[in-house]
Amino acid sequence: MVKRLCCSGWLVFSSCLLLAALVSSKHHGNPANDLVEIINNNRTSHKLSKLNDSPGLGCMALQFAKSCKGNCSRNGTINCTPSEDDFTEVFAPNCGVELPTFGTITGHIVGCHSKYLEPSLAFVNVLVGNNKALSILRNKSHNEVGVGMVGVHKGPFFWTVLFSSGKTNSTFVLENRGAGIQQKKGCYSGSSIPCSAGQNIKADSVIFNNVMIIGFLCAHLLQKLYFNLL
Ligand SMILES: *[C@@H]1O[C@H](CO)[C@@H](O)[C@H](O)[C@H]1NC(C)=O
Ligand SMILES: *[C@@H]1O[C@H](CO)[C@@H](O)[C@H](O)[C@H]1NC(C)=O
Ligand SMILES: *[C@@H]1O[C@H](CO)[C@@H](O)[C@H](O)[C@H]1NC(C)=O
Ligand SMILES: *[C@@H]1O[C@H](CO)[C@@H](O)[C@H](O)[C@H]1NC(C)=O
Ligand SMILES: *[C@@H]1O[C@H](CO)[C@@H](O)[C@H](O)[C@H]1NC(C)=O
Repeated sequence: MVKRLCCSGWLVFSSCLLLAALVSSKHHGNPANDLVEIINNNRTSHKLSKLNDSPGLGCMALQFAKSCKGNCSRNGTINCTPSEDDFTEVFAPNCGVELPTFGTITGHIVGCHSKYLEPSLAFVNVLVGNNKALSILRNKSHNEVGVGMVGVHKGPFFWTVLFSSGKTNSTFVLENRGAGIQQKKGCYSGSSIPCSAGQNIKADSVIFNNVMIIGFLCAHLLQKLYFNLL
């Protein structure tokens, strides 16, 4: 009798662990990669070329987004125009982009919103909400794309897209055999690393809620078992 109850207690406990692991593993995507896919789908459905996903460009887009902190107005307009020198003297070094491989940037789009938005909503509402951005997206000079995004704690989120005419694999090469410098905050496209803080504000609260619910369920089940034992 005691042995059986111990067994079922162990079973409940391990299923709880498994459930918790499943729930938290569901949120390891990278919304910056999703945006590259959305951009490419939109281009190809308008008979334009698919752009190569460049991690070096993506990481610089993240630096660009970070540099816009404090420049998002309440109505969602943004005034953020880093100088050309910022790209080569700040953004590239922060990413570990090998300077001799720095290519031509053929366009950029930047946008902000008071909170995190899912990639498809960010695309429509934040990035290509006006004709100017749409014409940049549809420019034929681009070969490569990189997306960066970062959020301010309890503040606005920033999204940046960089386009380049560079050739695949030979421009914006990241040092350390493509790994570059690890980023502490934000997301960028082209990286295999699931992103850290970019989506934290949202994803963390979702994971937290789910873990709390599972915690309560498990505690409840274990309590039941314990009283059965007495
Ligand atoms: C948005 O806010 C900025 C700065 O506060 C202002 O210059 C701009 O005219 C506003 N735009 C719209 C569409 O309301
Ligand atoms: C942010 O806005 C301020 C004030 O409008 C401006 O001086 C500054 O250059 C902007 N920052 C960037 C990176 O554009
Ligand atoms: C496309 O981008 C290039 C490089 O930025 C620019 O010179 C050209 O005017 C753009 N073309 C259109 C149609 O906007
Ligand atoms: C591409 O994006 C633009 C801007 O959101 C939208 O108007 C257009 O319908 C999209 N094209 C396709 C084929 O989804
Ligand atoms: C670029 O690099 C990727 C991965 O390293 C490789 O699969 C691909 O063939 C390369 N493309 C070109 C054009 O060299």
